[in-house]
Amino acid sequence: MRRVAILTSGGDAPGMNACLRACVRYAIHNDIEMYGVERGYVGLLNNRLERLNTRSVSDIIHRGGTVLKTARCPEFKEKEYILQAADTLKAYGIDSVIVIGGDGSFRGAKDLSDIGGINVVAIPGTIDNDLAYTDYTLGFDTAVNTVMSAMNNLRDTMSSHDRASMLEVMGRKAGDIALYSAVAGGAEYCIIPEVPYDLEEIARSMKQSIKRGKTSNMIVLAEGAGDREEICSKIKEIAGISVKTTTLGHIQRGGAPSMFDRVLAAKMAVRAVDLLLAGKTNRAIGIKNNQIIDMDITEALSMPHGIDENLYEVAHILSLHK
Ligand code: ADP
Ligand code: F6P
Repeated sequence: MRRVAILTSGGDAPGMNACLRACVRYAIHNDIEMYGVERGYVGLLNNRLERLNTRSVSDIIHRGGTVLKTARCPEFKEKEYILQAADTLKAYGIDSVIVIGGDGSFRGAKDLSDIGGINVVAIPGTIDNDLAYTDYTLGFDTAVNTVMSAMNNLRDTMSSHDRASMLEVMGRKAGDIALYSAVAGGAEYCIIPEVPYDLEEIARSMKQSIKRGKTSNMIVLAEGAGDREEICSKIKEIAGISVKTTTLGHIQRGGAPSMFDRVLAAKMAVRAVDLLLAGKTNRAIGIKNNQIIDMDITEALSMPHGIDENLYEVAHILSLHK
């Protein structure tokens, strides 16, 4: 009987548990023995593997985070440790691994295949949505919904006090969480790393909008686009407007996965297991134009991350700056 291991690595993301559940159940349905690895690549170095059955993944579909736990494992960039991990897997009779994580985890997966000779498939799980080869990563939709709900709350109080506010969101170097939240939550301004911005223009436009009778303004700032305090003090200096800042932080990384993330998790899990059954390795699973796809991990990682420029334009138009 085939034996396959599964691990979650890097930052956790809502939908990882739903994906784990789907991988385990679909694999067992196909007569594969499943092993869960604790704390990502760390668990491979510390022999933390446990046999999973269909019941092991009961009652987790609705939970954020990852019951397998996750970790960052810097040693995994070194050949010696990759070979050690491969030896551990081989000692268990395991020939394949499903990795759920972001781009760093994908690089680890590729090394485990290229250097360690283990078959790997990688499923994108990160709230950042920063993997260019796929339209969506697991956890992104849920994170944006969480940000949107925070924006609703902020709007209530900021508009009651006629205040300007800035909400800083995660995304590492990517602006996807900020852009989608700005559109969904109706923010007036969206500052992201992918598009150059002019603070003089933003400050002047805020001042003009106040003159026209607009009483509150909301800026969504992607964490990778600049320092929130510096930006706000610049706006104050130019336009005399005080901007109240809120940083959402790790709240946006937890929480029950949305319907979209749960369904995506199930579809990606099925493709991952099917690929391993077909003896494929080094494959990254994604979704493009609403179709599940897979491609070589190296090719997937080589694609530069960009932003949806049309959506950025729409965000600008709908915010009625003119
Ligand atoms: P994410 O997967 O969310 O991008 P990280 O970038 O922190 O998160 O990567 C998660 C883990 O993947 C790292 O702690 C490390 O174990 C492994 N990893 C990252 N980059 C590499 C690499 N270049 N080679 C091998 N393993 C890597
Ligand atoms: O990659 C997910 C993410 O939440 C990023 O958006 C953020 O920059 C980073 O992880 C935060 O990492 P940590 O939880 O280690 O502070």
